[in-house]
Amino acid sequence: MKIIGSYPKTRLRRLRKSKWLRNLISENNISSNDLILPIFIREGKNKIENIKSMPGVFRYTIDKLPTILKLARKYEIPMVALFPYTPNQKKNNLGTEALNPKNLICRGIKLIKNRFPDLGVMCDVALDPYTSHGHDGIIKNNKVDNDETIKILVKQALLQAKMGCDVIAPSDMMDGRVGAIRKALDKNKFYDVSILSYAVKYASNFYGPFRDAVGSKSKLKSDKKTYQMDYRNSSESFREVALDIKEGADMVMVKPGIIYLDIINEIKNKFKIPIIAYQVSGEYSLIKNAINKRILNEESIIESLTSFKRAGANAIVTYFALEIAKKIKNY
Ligand code: PBG
Repeated sequence: MKIIGSYPKTRLRRLRKSKWLRNLISENNISSNDLILPIFIREGKNKIENIKSMPGVFRYTIDKLPTILKLARKYEIPMVALFPYTPNQKKNNLGTEALNPKNLICRGIKLIKNRFPDLGVMCDVALDPYTSHGHDGIIKNNKVDNDETIKILVKQALLQAKMGCDVIAPSDMMDGRVGAIRKALDKNKFYDVSILSYAVKYASNFYGPFRDAVGSKSKLKSDKKTYQMDYRNSSESFREVALDIKEGADMVMVKPGIIYLDIINEIKNKFKIPIIAYQVSGEYSLIKNAINKRILNEESIIESLTSFKRAGANAIVTYFALEIAKKIKNY
């Protein structure tokens, strides 16, 4: 690209001189349409519980879910993502609680679809909230077994679809699961249930607070590097996206967020498919703690979210969704 113009005829500060002018020419703006709100749910009644590692984020019992759902709707957030905190006694080697039609997720989806039918709901397909070892799949011969895991994931996805889930989000990183899930959804006439595949999910150190929030942290004795991506790689992400599109993904996720903006941008340039970025728990807690300690100011949240848009993301899963949507609406 040739740079046209030179000083003093050209002064780039001219377009920065006032707020209205900066607003007028701004290229990327966060709106509540861009935000997906993750919500943690737990068993019990009448509880909204703090999560120590994620200040300002809570676990809700099902009866308390409407408190946060009402706010999501009030601030015009299009979709929420449900994550369960499964009690230890319901966890086992095979993660069978994932297939229980009365599990937290199923009850959560039903409540949303009954009482907030115009709010989108997205659910993870993966076994880690349900397994006693904290892995996303089942273990056979000391390995997370790809093909055996897929069989269970397909059932999990079908169950979620049956309960009314709008967007199925496989976050497990097994090979071939998107195709298997699409096939099963179609066979059962769930043509309108979409798949948002966590296509590019790195084995990241920034998931710690989330694992604490869903109660898998203390269970997980090793890492997830045999199925989640190696953070040293980028070409591999194109193969992941290309395969998932071929298998029937409607949208793709890149995760984590801010330290992977290069990946978002390259996928945006190479593929024409909606990209969802996930500003993960570790990123959230870093920024939130720094704000609470007055090391950063609150605008750093908007700056971080805008960077995803600038890189090419269509929307962002973020634990800041509610507070930012509220702020935008009150402007
Ligand atoms: C589970 C899952 C994880 C996250 C979303 N779904 C954790 C993991 O893969 O260990 C991370 C979200 C976050 O850190 O905010 N498969």
